[in-house]
Amino acid sequence: MSHYMTWKEYVTIYKLYRDRRPESELVDLANVSGKNIINLCCGSDDIMELCMNRGAKSFEGIDACFAMLYGLVEKKSKFPKGTVELYNQDVMQALEYREGKEKQYDVVFCRQAINYWFSELIIAKLASLMSDGGVFIFNTFANLPSPTPRVKEYTIEGDKFVEISYSIFNKNGGMDVHHIQAREGHEPHMTNFAWIKPNDFMEVLNKHFEWVDRIEKGKVHIYVCKKSAYFANT
Ligand SMILES: C[S@@+](CC[C@H](N)C(=O)[O-])C[C@H]1O[C@@H](n2cnc3c(N)ncnc32)[C@H](O)[C@@H]1O
Repeated sequence: MSHYMTWKEYVTIYKLYRDRRPESELVDLANVSGKNIINLCCGSDDIMELCMNRGAKSFEGIDACFAMLYGLVEKKSKFPKGTVELYNQDVMQALEYREGKEKQYDVVFCRQAINYWFSELIIAKLASLMSDGGVFIFNTFANLPSPTPRVKEYTIEGDKFVEISYSIFNKNGGMDVHHIQAREGHEPHMTNFAWIKPNDFMEVLNKHFEWVDRIEKGKVHIYVCKKSAYFANT
């Protein structure tokens, strides 16, 4: 995926979710102070600012869509030179680019995006780049949308929003989720990603991390995956 949308449009039309799930929800689960952090599919979310304000040693933000990174470019200059780096890369490309380098990552975040790229190959590469005691934290949706398109309508700040979501079998026999997000006055955004069953996440993660916990918060699951025999990060 090279173009997702612009960051400005993203925060405008996905306002309900942005307001409901603050970045601290994931960041609070790790000790980021003095740590090397990488945020996969970061968009311009404020995980960067939160981590840097909490004393992170370094922060790398990765996103395949340059227009989604744009808002972070300016914010980056608030922090000492070289401590924050942004990369317009696909997740696989980002991990391969870092293979064989000395730096290891202590904390990895991926917020609202793992369903775009999850595979055992990528998880294995990611775990191999993490330090002993490192932690990988991500969230995802808990339930497969129905195969019948469902319409959700709501109003925020006087503007009407409409969402349509449903699932379709893909050519590999799995399910893809299709989502259309519309806000009056704005072009709609259409996206699709794989449905990954909670057990499928667990099966792969348990092969590459020594400890995996799933926190169930209504329609959202948060996974905390620790690398090392003594689960050191938090
Ligand atoms: C729903 S947005 C989430 C953005 C941000 N993490 C947040 O929580 O606001 C999904 C993001 O994933 C990015 N993305 C999707 N697939 C990707 C991939 N394979 N590699 C890198 N970025 C990807 C998109 O460009 C988009 O910025």
